[in-house]
Amino acid sequence: MPTDAPGPPAAVLCGLAGWVPPRVVTNDELAERLDTDDAWIRTRTGISRRHVIEQGQATSDLAVEAGRRALRHAGAGPVGAVIVTTTTPDRPCPATAPAVAARLGLAGAAAFDVGAVCTGFVYGLATATGLITAGVAERVLLIGADTYSTIVDPLDRANAIIFGDGAGAVVLRAGRADEPGAVGAFDLGSDGAHEDLITITAGGSRQRSSGDEVQRHERHFAMRGNEVYRHAVTRMAGSARAVLSKAGWKTDDVDHFVPHQANLRILHSVADDLALPRERCVTNVGSVGNTGAASIPLALADAAARQAVRAGDRLLLTAFGGGLTWGSCLLTWPALAHLPADPNDRGDTTTR
Ligand code: UT7
Repeated sequence: MPTDAPGPPAAVLCGLAGWVPPRVVTNDELAERLDTDDAWIRTRTGISRRHVIEQGQATSDLAVEAGRRALRHAGAGPVGAVIVTTTTPDRPCPATAPAVAARLGLAGAAAFDVGAVCTGFVYGLATATGLITAGVAERVLLIGADTYSTIVDPLDRANAIIFGDGAGAVVLRAGRADEPGAVGAFDLGSDGAHEDLITITAGGSRQRSSGDEVQRHERHFAMRGNEVYRHAVTRMAGSARAVLSKAGWKTDDVDHFVPHQANLRILHSVADDLALPRERCVTNVGSVGNTGAASIPLALADAAARQAVRAGDRLLLTAFGGGLTWGSCLLTWPALAHLPADPNDRGDTTTR
């Protein structure tokens, strides 16, 4: 057996982009209608502003913008599957991905949604990897897109301050596991015993949305923030450790930790728990808020556009969300074409 034999098949990152809608909502603007203030929001969450869609816009509109840019960044090549991961689909039925694929000129490709709330992007990466390594698709477009402004009660001060709308997309191609950009190892997990911690109570088959008897709060996104906070730190740190151990990496091998951008305090707590210097934690939550399934690809695109992440750097991605769900993924950053900075987003990436 020659020592330079190629590694096993893998999914390799070859394109990336983020998109946030132009409308910016500052903390001061929220404080005009909510009993809150800029200092509280910054101190408790690290968030200064977020972007939100206008009336008439939907999740697919953001997904198409991010998807088009990621395809352009990746360069030409046939796309066999489009995955959209979202908690805010355009409609309960059908999935959002087929419409996104059609609008991107990819009608005919396999297209479906993945639902894992804020862990959706990492679950989507694992799903895309499976499609590629099983030979189902040569290339996959994976888009994380969410518009929490459509499900959060605008008068719920705990949640209205955290979430923002946005989309991030990656293109993965068939390659070898020893190439830079090959995604994996993975760690994925869930604990449905805590499904009530992050939920929309009504509108599904358990509690049908049949009209007046459904209370207003049951149609809105609800999160028991304080309990979620504790689970988020424990689960993210545990998942990060599990994936590092699976791959035989040490914490110090990680150049950039790219966590789901839930709340700056959570990200720093996880980094501290892992004994990772905080400056290795990629963050853009300050300028976009918590964008759900879009948050990791948006943070990656932001860091790449600033050339804060370079070819050969080793990345740890870790997410946590409703379900509860969590997951992590490792990759070595590939040499990618320069990514233009998004004119709509003045990010606040901190990375070494
Ligand atoms: O994305 C997936 C998972 N999501 C997360 O990981 C988010 C996790 N949770 C959080 O980020 C935080 O729990 C929040 C930002 C939601 C809340 O921050 P906290 O530091 O956990 O606050 P808390 O819920 O413990 O509330 C402390 C106090 C309460 O007042 P009392 O009862 O002590 O008088 C709240 O009513 O802060 C109050 N409060 C606010 N005050 C001013 C809650 N929201 C606000 C607000 N402005 N916006």
